[in-house]
Amino acid sequence: MIPEKGEMFNHWGLNRENVFLNHGSFGATPVAVLEEQNRVRRIMESDPVHFVERLSNEMWQNSVSNLSKFLNADPAGMLFVENATTGVNTILRSLNLSEGDEIIVPDHAYQACRNAIDHVTSKSGARTIVVRIPFIVNKDSDIIDPILSAISEKTALAMIDTVSSPTGIRMPFEKLVEEIQKRGVDVLVDAAHGPGIVPLDLSKLNAAYITGNCHKWVCTPKGSAFLHIREDKRGGVKPLVIGHGYSSELPLNEKFRMEFDWTGTRDPSPWLCIPYAIGHLGSLVHGGWPEIMRRNHEMVIYGRDLLCEALGTSPPTPNSMVSSMSSIELPWDEDVVSVPLGGDPLHNLLFDNYKIQVPVIPWPNHNRKYIRISAQLYNSKEEYEYLSNSLTSILGL
Ligand SMILES: Cc1ncc(COP(=O)(O)O)c(C=O)c1O
Repeated sequence: MIPEKGEMFNHWGLNRENVFLNHGSFGATPVAVLEEQNRVRRIMESDPVHFVERLSNEMWQNSVSNLSKFLNADPAGMLFVENATTGVNTILRSLNLSEGDEIIVPDHAYQACRNAIDHVTSKSGARTIVVRIPFIVNKDSDIIDPILSAISEKTALAMIDTVSSPTGIRMPFEKLVEEIQKRGVDVLVDAAHGPGIVPLDLSKLNAAYITGNCHKWVCTPKGSAFLHIREDKRGGVKPLVIGHGYSSELPLNEKFRMEFDWTGTRDPSPWLCIPYAIGHLGSLVHGGWPEIMRRNHEMVIYGRDLLCEALGTSPPTPNSMVSSMSSIELPWDEDVVSVPLGGDPLHNLLFDNYKIQVPVIPWPNHNRKYIRISAQLYNSKEEYEYLSNSLTSILGL
């Protein structure tokens, strides 16, 4: 029997027959936000030229200033990109690396972003310095100390997550950015799981670069992310796509905007829905965004503790290092190998036989396997209970 849904479930168009415990991978967009996207698209298609020449500029600026206010960021450095992968690539591919330079990345980083680092370091004779962080973490210094120890006079950049993808750890990124930059090294913050899942104050954070998704935890349509570049770094970064802005003779700050804002014809509706999504989600619960994060945190802790007990393991981090996602180690005797082409067998079994959508993440480096749960307003406690019972039955516990 499929368990009861959370009370907010009807705000989303999710399939009722499934138990959706993976908000973390691609988010999920509420029906009202998709309607807003359709409204924007109808305006666009009623006269595409008028839309591009006149209407979209004001809407774009509104989105930039709205998101900047939400994240307390300087709107002049706030750019839109399709996704965090693009944001990370934009910065890395603008770096002028020399032979022997080093880029630091913890081994909990998202593989696509790690690949982007490897690509630029291997092309320039620089080196990727991978910092091993344990899965079981008891305190911030378990993460901070090894990262700081990896800094050398050759370090050109460090990439730090807000929340790690495979392990779901809420990283001590505020402290890391402060300490790393104090040592003269720029930080690129990967906030793919950023807005809407951890409190973000970009002005206070003061990272050289930060990119983050709105399509995950702010629930905008897919393809809406941001890249924020600190003022002193703006002259050195180019978009991945060179377009009209490159030859513009506008003053530097306007040229910078033009280069990033117009990289060719595309559908801007995912970004233009950001103000609506922030307002809509924020209005669903009394207390707005802080309350959404609090509820999701409380729910995921409930699910994590339940699973830990069922699987006979202990929570990998203190509650303070959990946001709205948590990974729990699965009991596993065999050697852990990378996900086979058809997907992880346990993940597939959970979906095919139990209708549960949840990622199972093999991590060969650490020879461990995790299950990562997410919590969003549409989830219910019963869904985590159902997952726990299904797992104990599959694993014969
Ligand atoms: C830490 C991290 N970085 C980057 C990404 C990539 O996000 P996107 O696919 O939106 O580029 C993810 C996706 O889950 C992630 O978890």
